Amino acid sequence: MELGRPDMEPVIEVENLVAGYGATRILDGVSFEVQPREVLVVLGTSGCGKTTLLRHLIGLLRPTSGSVRLFGRDVAAIPEEELDQLRARFGVAFQSGALFNSITVAENVALPMRERGLPAETVPALVRMKLSLVGLADAGQKMPSQLSGGMRKRVALARALALDPEIVFFDEPSAGLDPVTAAGLDRLILQLRDLLDITVVVVTHELASIRAIADRALMLAQGRVLFDGPLAEVDDARDPRVRRFFRREPEEPAGIRPQADSLSL
Ligand SMILES: Nc1ncnc2c1ncn2[C@@H]1O[C@H](COP(=O)(O)OP(=O)(O)OP(=O)(O)O)[C@@H](O)[C@H]1O
Ligand SMILES: [Mg+2]
Repeated sequence: MELGRPDMEPVIEVENLVAGYGATRILDGVSFEVQPREVLVVLGTSGCGKTTLLRHLIGLLRPTSGSVRLFGRDVAAIPEEELDQLRARFGVAFQSGALFNSITVAENVALPMRERGLPAETVPALVRMKLSLVGLADAGQKMPSQLSGGMRKRVALARALALDPEIVFFDEPSAGLDPVTAAGLDRLILQLRDLLDITVVVVTHELASIRAIADRALMLAQGRVLFDGPLAEVDDARDPRVRRFFRREPEEPAGIRPQADSLSL
């Protein structure tokens, strides 16, 4: 008798992931799971390996050891054509936005649909739907260069949603945006989760965003998971680096701690 509820099986399972570039190890035994409809925020200092982790989650890179399973399938071990099927089940908005500048916004969003071979006559209506989802119904005919940073991020999100994915990966959605635009994007992410039942993995180190959207936070440092749990627990985290991050306190550099007598002038 199966006791676990099938709808509660994790959509992402990362087990002891060890990975890097050439001889440089970036991830050194990372394990975690993501449940359906969860918003997981991956955070950590710049260069700690968040984008690298994301590349592994979507099967762009192969791990040195360990595994990544999406919907129960090991992304590094399945044949290329099955990976293609799997790719239709998730969407990615990369850190750079990565829009093609020589084609319109609508054509950018249409790209995954065309690659997937959706009937050409249905594409324009679908594109309009995706663009209205992100609040850009009127921007289809614009060129990416005519958009603001926040609009570009939303187009990237619309493109990530092109094939009705079950998981959306979003790398730094609010980096470089003003707080109001960033908050709008946060709200959009939550609306999409509620409206479309998607699981969301967001990389960000914007504290306000993390507090607004995260069900759970996963903090990386030195290639390992420093914290994995609900936001409510970060203040009680055992590792001081976690508490410092959330209180926005600087690292204490060794050796320059003020001496009591040097302070008494
Ligand atoms: N293609 C690559 N080839 C070699 N090294 C890389 C490559 N991409 C990233 N790195 C290195 O891997 C480490 C982790 O990079 P990564 O981009 O994953 O960090 P990050 O946590 O996303 O940082 P940020 O917050 O600045 O985006 C860095 O030291 C980086 O220089
Ligand atoms: Mg990054």
